[in-house]
Amino acid sequence: MNATEAESAASPPANHDGKPPAILVEDLVVRFGEIEAVGGISFSVAPGEVFGLLGPNGAGKTTTIRVLTTLLEPTDGRAFVAGFDVREQSLEVRASIGYIPQAISVDGALTAYENLDFYGRVTGVPGRERRQRIEEAIETMQLQPMLDRLARTLSGGMLRRLEIATALLNRPAVLFLDEPTVGLDPTARQMVWDHLGALREQAGTTILVTTHVMEEAERYCKRLAIIDIGHIVEQGEPRGLMERTGSDSLEGVFTSVTGRHINETQEGRLSDVRAQRRVAGRLG
Ligand SMILES: Nc1ncnc2c1ncn2[C@@H]1O[C@H](COP(=O)(O)OP(=O)(O)OP(=O)(O)O)[C@@H](O)[C@H]1O
Ligand SMILES: [Mg+2]
Repeated sequence: MNATEAESAASPPANHDGKPPAILVEDLVVRFGEIEAVGGISFSVAPGEVFGLLGPNGAGKTTTIRVLTTLLEPTDGRAFVAGFDVREQSLEVRASIGYIPQAISVDGALTAYENLDFYGRVTGVPGRERRQRIEEAIETMQLQPMLDRLARTLSGGMLRRLEIATALLNRPAVLFLDEPTVGLDPTARQMVWDHLGALREQAGTTILVTTHVMEEAERYCKRLAIIDIGHIVEQGEPRGLMERTGSDSLEGVFTSVTGRHINETQEGRLSDVRAQRRVAGRLG
């Protein structure tokens, strides 16, 4: 390792309380050929915080999550998760996180329990602890009534709870959720958020969540960054952002900062994801 590599693998700067932030992103850039999906964003998330990444379709939210979960190499900039460098210490990062992607991630041809067992194996939960961890995840996400059902027969809300349970098996310090409530009805949405809140309180899990739904972010995120065309246009606590821009909602903050309504910027891909969630019954 040369001096520059050693520097880039160094621990991230500590917060005022001496602890490193759970997530630290500095001047992150991701290009796909000519397309600049992420254009130099910076933010940090404190341990135990629920942080929202908000923005319209194509803003760069999923791309940012893919870098933070080590699935994609950034073009430039640095990022640390749980104190580890995503470029240099990807194995340590992976051992510290749970990730629930935007698309459905469980196997429709397996039962809920079989999915949990499978994820326990692939996330490296030691055999002797697997059963205990699965029991805990079942309890936390209240999955008892659905354990023997094939995943393809579960409703969208049940599927999301199962997916969150699979991501908890390695007891992650940081949990990434990409659009956890897309396609869910209000009751299922509420349930997902209640479970995430409980997880944060009980296990101190840091949660990074992306959403287009401004009211959800306003209600459940302690802090958030609004991202548009690869750039952070505002970040802070929801109330502070609204006060600063003289808006009475986060939608208003977005409009005030970009001059556009958030829905005007959509490319129609959201409807694809919604449709996918609705036909979850055809999974597998
Ligand atoms: N593998 C890829 N190759 C080329 N372009 C890509 C790739 N992945 C993403 N992009 C482009 O990068 C930009 C950001 O995409 P990204 O998926 O991160 O947006 P997003 O904020 O998650 O959007 P959505 O709300 O629709 O999920 C878009 O213009 C997208 O088309
Ligand atoms: Mg996305």
